[in-house]
Amino acid sequence: MHDGSENGRPTEAAKAGPQAPAEAGPWLAAIAEAQDAAALQELRVRLLGKRGEITQRLKALGQLDPEARREAGRQVNLLKRSVEEALEARRAELERQRLEAQLASERVDVTLPGTRPPQGGLHLLTLVTNRLLDVFQSLGYEVVTGPELETDYYNFEALNFPPDHPARDTQDTFWTTDGRLLRTHTSPMQVRYMETHRPPFKVVVPGKVFRNEAVDVTHEAQFNQLEALVVGERITMADLRGAINEMAQALIGPGTKTRLQPTYFPFVEPGAEFAIWWTNPRTGREEWLELGGCGMVHPKVFEAAGYEGVTGFAFGFGIERLALVPYAIPDIRYFYQGDMRVLEQFRGVL
Ligand code: PHE
Repeated sequence: MHDGSENGRPTEAAKAGPQAPAEAGPWLAAIAEAQDAAALQELRVRLLGKRGEITQRLKALGQLDPEARREAGRQVNLLKRSVEEALEARRAELERQRLEAQLASERVDVTLPGTRPPQGGLHLLTLVTNRLLDVFQSLGYEVVTGPELETDYYNFEALNFPPDHPARDTQDTFWTTDGRLLRTHTSPMQVRYMETHRPPFKVVVPGKVFRNEAVDVTHEAQFNQLEALVVGERITMADLRGAINEMAQALIGPGTKTRLQPTYFPFVEPGAEFAIWWTNPRTGREEWLELGGCGMVHPKVFEAAGYEGVTGFAFGFGIERLALVPYAIPDIRYFYQGDMRVLEQFRGVL
């Protein structure tokens, strides 16, 4: 403090000079202690305002006789001046403190290291999808995509799900009021692609799919699939098996085991579900992880596409489940929660 006080308390002598009347003491002290401009203004009004104490006294001088008035007038004026000076001194001090604080808060240390702008990265699902596409492209597959909002025809009917067939119950989804639906799998692209291309070909279709699911650690209402479709002459189940093995080994490592077990899908015959052997990160145990479905393209599907005399296989699986394996992610919901603690762990892993 620069108020010339001793042990921090302002003295009237310091604030108003030697002539300040003794009765000014408490006022000067209050002024010197005012914490901000508003408090100071309140004191100014109380002392010097229209009805202020000093103003009242000046007015009262008129009632005194001339002798007394001179001495009293001198006193009041001294009082007034010392109060004015104290107000001004405190105002200057508060202003100085304010400027000091502002300067301190605006201080820039140019020798500090700069702040790095946060760097974005690709989401793990994008990384895994890109990796999968790389693998399939190196095996000669073309990458195509299709609509997420589908018609009943491509999602079900052309894939040999007749209306009211119970197989539809396994793929409950969300419908628009005009009768379209959010595709439940990437398989509708099988017929869409065949309608506009001639065999032989090998394609993969990555994309979002939707199901009316009870959400849990391995199920989401929205997830991603990769579909593969290979059509040509004399394509067999062995080719299907080989493609699935190639994918598993390229993705997880040499020697990764895969398994096919017969099951039913209306659009393949024979049909199977396939699994890969992995270590479950939650239990630490090795076990089969069911990835998706596969099989030889059903004649009805070729018929819907206007194909004759060809053979082919198809498979499709959830990409999230495949990303869970190498990165030991315990809960599929982590993919969509946008939690930076999760996302940051996968920056640049692939
Ligand atoms: N579309 C099937 C599903 O989502 C998977 C599948 C794809 C099965 C291709 C057979 C052939 O469950």
